[in-house]
Amino acid sequence: MEGRMVERKHIIRTERLCKEFPAGRRQIGVLHDIDLHIYPREFTIIYGPSGSGKSTLLNTLLGLEPPTRGKVFVRGRDLFKMADDQRAEFRNRNYGVVYQQPYWVKSLNVLENVSLPLLLRGESLKFARGRAMYSIEQVGLERFAKYAPTQLSGGQQQKVSLARALVTDPSVIVADEPTGNLDTASSNEVIEMFMDLIQRLGRTVVMVTHELRFLEYAHRAISIRDGKIEGEFGKSEIKNLVKDLKAIGIK
Ligand SMILES: Nc1ncnc2c1ncn2[C@@H]1O[C@H](COP(=O)(O)OP(=O)(O)OP(=O)(O)O)[C@@H](O)[C@H]1O
Ligand SMILES: [Mg+2]
Repeated sequence: MEGRMVERKHIIRTERLCKEFPAGRRQIGVLHDIDLHIYPREFTIIYGPSGSGKSTLLNTLLGLEPPTRGKVFVRGRDLFKMADDQRAEFRNRNYGVVYQQPYWVKSLNVLENVSLPLLLRGESLKFARGRAMYSIEQVGLERFAKYAPTQLSGGQQQKVSLARALVTDPSVIVADEPTGNLDTASSNEVIEMFMDLIQRLGRTVVMVTHELRFLEYAHRAISIRDGKIEGEFGKSEIKNLVKDLKAIGIK
């Protein structure tokens, strides 16, 4: 009972997660004994230098990249104990994903692209389109539903990717440098949308970013270096961290 209660507290938890990639005849360790906890209804930011293993970690949390050792639990389920198709379905049901680059099916318009995750899960075209339109309205781009995604600005495209990530009504949104290609105003809008998802809809957001100015929005910040968790900060520690960063001129 005790164990189950502890489990409930986290929506995602990893246990001594290790990932190695083959490099010639050797193996290169990219993640080392990562014990990560993501709490529901929180905005968690993961940051760290390029090559430190952030994207690899996210891909493992998503069930896309099997760990060499260790475990990933999502909503109490051991991700890599599932069969591949079960894991894919679990991902489709629980996760929405946003990357730095939006990936479009170029022959499809905005509405059709946003419908895809629902069609992949076997929903009817009518249902998928209705939900997709609602999702596009949520990001304020209904006017562009019939456009080709590439006709939109970078910021608008990223909002459409967010609409696509949200169309399945996922409990967790995972974002890998979602503002990496955006101007300041569009970046801020994306972060505001994340905050709204958490505060109004009780969703959980995990974001990798290089932009430390977003730390002040986060409930929890995790710094990764050389494939290890270097530090984990709660709200009050983040406040001090942000102060220190401002003092040394990082905005
Ligand atoms: N499929 C792969 N095969 C071999 N090595 C890989 C693979 N994917 C990642 N790596 C290596 O793992 C390390 C971590 O990569 P990862 O993409 O996770 O870093 P990152 O922290 O996301 O970096 P960035 O901030 O530049 O996106 C790098 O050294 C990378 O070369
Ligand atoms: Mg990366």
